[in-house]
Amino acid sequence: MATNQDMIGRDDINDLEAILSITNSDVDEVLHTVKSESDALFSWDYERSRPALVKLYEKAKTSQWNVTTDLDWSIPVDQAAVVMANQAANIPNGFGETVDLTGTPFESWTDDQWVQMGIESQNWTLSQFLHGEQGALICTAQIVETVPWIDAKYYAATQVMDEARHVEVFAKYLDEKLSGHYPINAHLKMLLDDIITDNRWDMTYLGMQIMVEGLALAAFGFIHQLTTEPLLKKLLRYVMADEARHVAFGVLSLQEFYKELDSKEIRERQEFAFEAAVRMRDRFLQQEVFERMGVDVKDALTLVLEDETRAMFQGMLFSKIVPNCKKLGLLDAGDGWLRDRFTELGVIQFEDWTDTSEEYTDLDEVAKDRSAA
Ligand SMILES: [Fe+2]
Ligand SMILES: [Fe+2]
Repeated sequence: MATNQDMIGRDDINDLEAILSITNSDVDEVLHTVKSESDALFSWDYERSRPALVKLYEKAKTSQWNVTTDLDWSIPVDQAAVVMANQAANIPNGFGETVDLTGTPFESWTDDQWVQMGIESQNWTLSQFLHGEQGALICTAQIVETVPWIDAKYYAATQVMDEARHVEVFAKYLDEKLSGHYPINAHLKMLLDDIITDNRWDMTYLGMQIMVEGLALAAFGFIHQLTTEPLLKKLLRYVMADEARHVAFGVLSLQEFYKELDSKEIRERQEFAFEAAVRMRDRFLQQEVFERMGVDVKDALTLVLEDETRAMFQGMLFSKIVPNCKKLGLLDAGDGWLRDRFTELGVIQFEDWTDTSEEYTDLDEVAKDRSAA
């Protein structure tokens, strides 16, 4: 049985020293190479034997949208004004009310500094979305090669196009509307590298479609609700329509495949899901933002980990992952090992929320806009 040390490189999931010891050692690199030993599989069985994937593929073909023509890029974005509106409506400063800032560097921060923090945080968040989208592009191209089923190869090909569009849209928004990029967060990079390196085709799905995209779908939904900026709102809504299909693709494919696995193999999937969950939680600590704001990162993150409001927001990021893991049988297999881990992470309360196997039809904003036009 793997220990926390084996899975995530530390015994205590809240060990800040260990979390901060993982840093992006080469922030100036332009090309990053990941070795993958996966087999590329041809299938000579062209029979369309998986109706749920056929349906998803048909939907994907008619729900394509165009970054350059379907969004109104003439909308001006005043980033400071957007940040101030968000802060006024949600969290006034970067921390929830339960956090006492007395005696911390934040105690003397001016309004301008809080706004700057909000701006950096937005640049950081969108930059990580951008890098994550490229991860999805690469993982899904890998699935086209490695998945043995023809219906899944067809569908994955449409997702490759979707992900190229997502990389394009976030890069364009960052360049034209925001005020700076961040390199990839080290925890996210580690997770993407692990997913790509694993040569079992279903692990690519679990890491990307279930975990990374499940979290992205929740995060996009959350920011879509919070933001007052109309271009970002619409952009996120369109990306979410695609992401809901991608998560459905993961759930529908793995549901079938997991039926063939024995308990040892299922346990390996549970451990991988746990590792991915921890990496994603670590990445949302936003350590690079505090670094850029010139505060001691460890002190700042100690406050972050104590912040109940943030914990609640971050918990929400798992609101798609947990029900999908349950639907796949991962939560309760092997005496509920993953249930216990998700309980420790404080996210088990989402287990009975809607899973994402069918949600994509409701979220298809593109089809709604077309039928309204
Ligand atoms: Fe995407
Ligand atoms: Fe996606």
